[in-house]
Amino acid sequence: MKKYPAFIIIAHWLTAVLLVINALLGFQLEEVAEHEGITPETFGYFRTHALIGAAILVITLIRWFVKFKNRDRLPELEYYGDWHKKLVNGIHALIYLLLILVPLTGIINMYQAGVFGVCFGKPFPEEVYLSESLTEIHETLVKLLFALVAAHVAGVISYILKTKENILKRMCLLAK
Ligand code: HEM
Ligand code: HEM
Repeated sequence: MKKYPAFIIIAHWLTAVLLVINALLGFQLEEVAEHEGITPETFGYFRTHALIGAAILVITLIRWFVKFKNRDRLPELEYYGDWHKKLVNGIHALIYLLLILVPLTGIINMYQAGVFGVCFGKPFPEEVYLSESLTEIHETLVKLLFALVAAHVAGVISYILKTKENILKRMCLLAK
């Protein structure tokens, strides 16, 4: 069975795990921001969330590059029709886009509030104001991303059931 390049397989599962962890951290962050605000004491939560998110961004950019470099050697599906091909590729492209936009909106928000540099040792500013609209956009994009991931997983499962071809093996390092 033709498989995805090793880097894409590792990036796929690492991103999935980091994404779930960071979304859970994010909702905890929302509580912290609401009750205590961003202070030197609570900043640890924000730093962890920001660094995991930045790692997802970097992994996604490299994965995109690796995918582009190997575009003629990637495994193909037996599409049900042209509409199916467009749907699958569209969902994948949107997932990639959101894996970039979600961290970017978080980084811009922390940057405009003057605290992004604090993650890398800059002094904590006197006052910190996160932008409400950027926080809202960040949260909406996260929800959209998870809706697309749900559609993606449903698509993979239904494809396996319909075609009896276990495409999970194509995203698995050890399977033959
Ligand atoms: C947060 C979670 C996930 C994200 C962001 C994600 C994203 C993606 C993307 C973008 C692709 C296209 C290939 C690529 O460019 O790397 C892909 C392929 C794939 N994903 Fe996921 N995925 C996630 C979770 C899952 C889960 C839970 C499963 C298990 C059912 C799964 C199974 C697969 C399989 C089997 C493929 C290869 C499909 C093929 O052979 O063409 N993914 N995934
Ligand atoms: C893919 C990665 C990320 C995911 C899944 C994610 C997820 C979340 C979630 C679910 C929330 C709570 C929603 C809300 O507060 O309205 C949140 C809040 C936030 N995130 Fe992220 N995030 C990611 C990356 C980042 C990055 C890279 C940064 C900054 C460098 C960041 C900064 C923030 C900030 C500042 C908040 C606002 C806390 C608040 O005021 O409520 N996020 N994130």
